[in-house]
Amino acid sequence: MTAQLSKKSEAWSARFSEPVSDLVKRYTASVFFDKRLAQFDIQGSLAHAEMLAHQNIISSQDYADIQRGMTQIQSEIASGKFEWLLDLEDVHLNIEKRLTELVGDAGKRLHTGRSRNDQVATDIRLYLRTAIDDIKVLLRELRLALVDLAEQHAETILPGFTHMQVAQPVTFGHHMLAYVEMFGRDAERMADCRKRVNRLPLGAAALAGTTFAIDRERVAATLGFDDVCRNSLDAVSDRDFAIEFCAASALVMTHISRMSEELVIWMSPRVGFIDIADRFCTGSSIMPQKKNPDVPELARGKTGRVNGHLIALLTLMKGQPLAYNKDNQEDKEPLFDTVDTVVDTLRIFADMARGITVKADAMRAAALQGYATATDLADYLVKKGLPFRDAHEAVARAVRACVDKNCDLSDLTLDEMRAFSPLIEQDIFSVLTLEGSVRARDHVGGTAPGQVRTAIARIRAELT
Ligand code: ARG
Repeated sequence: MTAQLSKKSEAWSARFSEPVSDLVKRYTASVFFDKRLAQFDIQGSLAHAEMLAHQNIISSQDYADIQRGMTQIQSEIASGKFEWLLDLEDVHLNIEKRLTELVGDAGKRLHTGRSRNDQVATDIRLYLRTAIDDIKVLLRELRLALVDLAEQHAETILPGFTHMQVAQPVTFGHHMLAYVEMFGRDAERMADCRKRVNRLPLGAAALAGTTFAIDRERVAATLGFDDVCRNSLDAVSDRDFAIEFCAASALVMTHISRMSEELVIWMSPRVGFIDIADRFCTGSSIMPQKKNPDVPELARGKTGRVNGHLIALLTLMKGQPLAYNKDNQEDKEPLFDTVDTVVDTLRIFADMARGITVKADAMRAAALQGYATATDLADYLVKKGLPFRDAHEAVARAVRACVDKNCDLSDLTLDEMRAFSPLIEQDIFSVLTLEGSVRARDHVGGTAPGQVRTAIARIRAELT
């Protein structure tokens, strides 16, 4: 605990005849976690004070004093000298109290036409806007790392799976680009969410607006908000923008988790498709042979807490009547932990993607097992005039025969194959190769190496 129990000075003390107990003080305080909003709180206060001065609600001397005091507070916070007091409940009252200590009455005038309700809503929006901008950069870095990996392996054959059973061959580059698409949509969702985050609550005051002749547009412009919140009750009470952010984050982590699951499977010695650089793995304290993919496993695990935070915020909101209720103080820890988890995870994954070694031989060998080109044989028969369902049946019989003989489709002789359909000719052998199979899927969104390269060029252009 960094805040201390001292210096009693509540902003509403005259109304009360007895102090709250230490337990209640601790229970209702948020300074331990909301002090993280300090820089945004100061930024918002300065914009508010500038507007008050411009509107002649406070004097320009008051504004100058507030600026001077805030500069000092900023350096006290940066150097760790700022004394956070539990008695002062939250970040807002701590900073305001210190400001008043430093500059006197000007500090007491700062809160004119404002409430902590619109103040905190503004702080969270400023904080979240920065977080979203960071996350967008990190998503881009991860996508670029995956695109580089895809480019190196535009032709590398990987067995594609459905139901965890070998289905059809795909290129490893194509597989990586699937994640690039997912993270691209995540970035779109973040950008879209940012539009609704980036609106100014200040001016709503406690809930009904203020009697002072404020200029909300001016504050919005100073703080870089696109617009002002249009209804004061809504402005102080709803946290849908934070919920939306948590939903977008839950999807980021869900995509990370799916990828993690694959990395863990691929790195299992039983599968052996990839290796992950040592700096992302750890050993076992008892089994000397182990090299565990801890980072993907942890990321898969951390997805749970991010999903949980989404549910926490939805539940926090659902029972609240208009307007502000203290419940909303509970929005911060889930939100902060979501940001921390997503930021750390994306940063580490962008780095780890560059530490993946692909074992192309093992992937190819696995694709050769499991009749991955059976669909190609069926398509071949369709192109010779057989209805697809009949072709499916003919190939199913051929696969069955191969299972009995313990061989691949391409190991059958032409005569053996013709027993399943007389339409089969010599040209079937190129169709049954893994390379022929992927090359044939040559359309937008298909796995052909040429399509992978075209997609890479498109994504790179989008990312520059
Ligand atoms: N610490 C509070 C929060 O996080 C600030 C707003 C408090 N407003 C109030 N009327 N108690 O929401």
